[in-house]
Amino acid sequence: MDALTPDPGPSSDANFDDDLVMTLDGAVVHFHPGETLYEVARRHGKVIPTLCYDARLAPFGACRLCAVEVRGARAPVAACTTQAVIDMVVHTQSENLDRHRRTLLEMVVSENPHLAVSPLRGYSSQELSFWVENYQADTGRFAGAHSGRSRLDDPNPFILRDYNLCISCYRCVRVCAEQEGDYAISVAQRGFHTRITVEFDGLLRDSACTFCGQCVQTCPTGALSDKKALRFAEGKDLPQRTQRPEREERKKKEGHPYGDSTGGIG
Ligand code: SF4
Ligand code: FES
Repeated sequence: MDALTPDPGPSSDANFDDDLVMTLDGAVVHFHPGETLYEVARRHGKVIPTLCYDARLAPFGACRLCAVEVRGARAPVAACTTQAVIDMVVHTQSENLDRHRRTLLEMVVSENPHLAVSPLRGYSSQELSFWVENYQADTGRFAGAHSGRSRLDDPNPFILRDYNLCISCYRCVRVCAEQEGDYAISVAQRGFHTRITVEFDGLLRDSACTFCGQCVQTCPTGALSDKKALRFAEGKDLPQRTQRPEREERKKKEGHPYGDSTGGIG
């Protein structure tokens, strides 16, 4: 489930330990051992903004957009990395949190004012623009230098690397390592000069990349995108199945629900 899809809601209390309760936005709720505040909140239908979060990946806690208020804590804490504790009192919405989240978004977009990217750039490509609009963040409030260096010259036929749109959430790096075990994408330099790259700052086709497309699917800004989908939208790339009607027909006869359609990158 991605960050923008509503959660189906709380599961049955029958599966919970009676002692594991906390207060969430004024209601007493159960939690599972090890569950994060974000997971508990989502299970109860709360909407908490995220940028570096991907449910498939280990919690990372980089963007701080998922901040929530915890009674006794001096500052908002990251819901995606903070585990629920018995008797914790948590608020996911407040004017203070709105201000905090809006300012964070304004700082993020100061590097990345180009928000109107095509949804064809990937499944999650609209996340940043969605939250900016949702919190009415001022995209011109902070102006400054830009980090990241694009490799639009990368001649591979599948993945566009437009790091001018990168917000250093590391989702691509982590999905490549944690889900694919490829470690094709990495991070170079530190601090403001941090940038996403591949080994020796080279080309994807010369790296360990298998062009699985997971990085495109998780990128919340469209910095990584599916070249084939973009080419197709521009009318420059015809789907192969229209060139092979006999094979398509045979697949349909064999009962394949989508004929010869393969979908995704490649
Ligand atoms: S390329 Fe996309 S997924 Fe990777 S760090 Fe940048 S914004 Fe995040
Ligand atoms: S989503 Fe929690 S810190 Fe980024």
